[in-house]
Amino acid sequence: MPTTADALASLALAGGPKAADTNVPMIAVKLTDAQIDAAVDVMRSGMLAAGKVAAEFETKFATLTGAKHALACANGTCALQLAYGALDIGPGDRVLCPAWTYIATASMLAALGAEIVWVDADPHTYTIDPKDLDKKLDGSIKAVAATHIYGTPVDIHAVQQAADKAGVPVVYDCAQSHLARYDDHPAGSFGALCTYSFYPTKNMTTGEGGMVTTNDPELAERVRLLRSHGETEKYTHTHIGFNYRMTDIEAAIGLHQLDVIEDATAKRQRNAAKYTAALDDIVGLHAPKAPDRAESVYHLYPVRVDAAAFVSPAEAGQPDLATTRDLVMKALQAEGVACAVHYPKSLTHQPVFDHPDIDHQPVSDRLANTLFCIPVHQHLTDEQTDLVVAAMRKVANALAR
Ligand SMILES: Cc1ncc(COP(=O)(O)O)c(C=O)c1O
Repeated sequence: MPTTADALASLALAGGPKAADTNVPMIAVKLTDAQIDAAVDVMRSGMLAAGKVAAEFETKFATLTGAKHALACANGTCALQLAYGALDIGPGDRVLCPAWTYIATASMLAALGAEIVWVDADPHTYTIDPKDLDKKLDGSIKAVAATHIYGTPVDIHAVQQAADKAGVPVVYDCAQSHLARYDDHPAGSFGALCTYSFYPTKNMTTGEGGMVTTNDPELAERVRLLRSHGETEKYTHTHIGFNYRMTDIEAAIGLHQLDVIEDATAKRQRNAAKYTAALDDIVGLHAPKAPDRAESVYHLYPVRVDAAAFVSPAEAGQPDLATTRDLVMKALQAEGVACAVHYPKSLTHQPVFDHPDIDHQPVSDRLANTLFCIPVHQHLTDEQTDLVVAAMRKVANALAR
């Protein structure tokens, strides 16, 4: 249906009635009484630092994610530094890293002095492109980093096949993908090491927190040493290490979050399934796809905007907006649906990495201009997800070319 002045005027953006009476929030962080009580119990005990609660959290987390060893740490960024450090990645080492990920996947490589070789994203799954990875995985590469972005596992089979052939380890950044599955196994059971974040907006939280998992006892021991001052026994230090330990207060929250993570994940997946079904017949807005055998846990739900299907910002009377994606988002926000861009720049365009010879990645660059995320978290009611769908339909119909 082509845009008419009446259709445009029906948008809340143009002063028309909102699709939703209430605002649908992008995130909601809620701790249960059991989680709060567990943290308070630790505080009352006086044993605040890493201790038996952190150890219990590690054991349960390892079981749930299919790993033999789990090591809790201060946050997901530390987890990456510990994982890369355990692989002895250092100055001059060349490491493959997706351009389409959060900064920490790459910045912790840079912090160790590694040379990042950028890999592009698949245009439909937004995860690392295995063909581009295979092309760049030559004898000079020491390791591969790959992110299960938005909660969607990468094509692990293809990534592992390429990495195993070259004999290089893979670190999977699972900060957004707790409980994601691949080939009917937990995604956290693949690769040399996996790293997690428990930042409040993640699928599960400890306030701040992170975890490194691995099936390799030697790598686990290296992470353990790096995590706590390279200390092999009290005041004996065999390695340079850090203090990246998780407190028992955080671990107590995490331990009890594990009681609800499966239900929360199932709710995210139900919300996502509703959006995917609806987007099937909304012209110009596209659902994300998971690689074959991958089961997403929808940390985020990215919608891709086909600019050719819609009027331009200028035609819609919004000449200050840079992209049609921004126009769709602004119209949805006006209807009462929160949305967010993850991420506005591919990493090669971040000032910290961008230099005249940088190898920009075209698909990742396109994603930065065409994706936006809608609320998908576990605290949404069915009425709220219905409103998100209704608002997307209304906006897409009104802006259709
Ligand atoms: C993909 C990815 N990696 C790493 C991190 C870093 O985690 P943290 O914020 O816990 O340091 C994040 C957090 O946003 C992330 O999304």
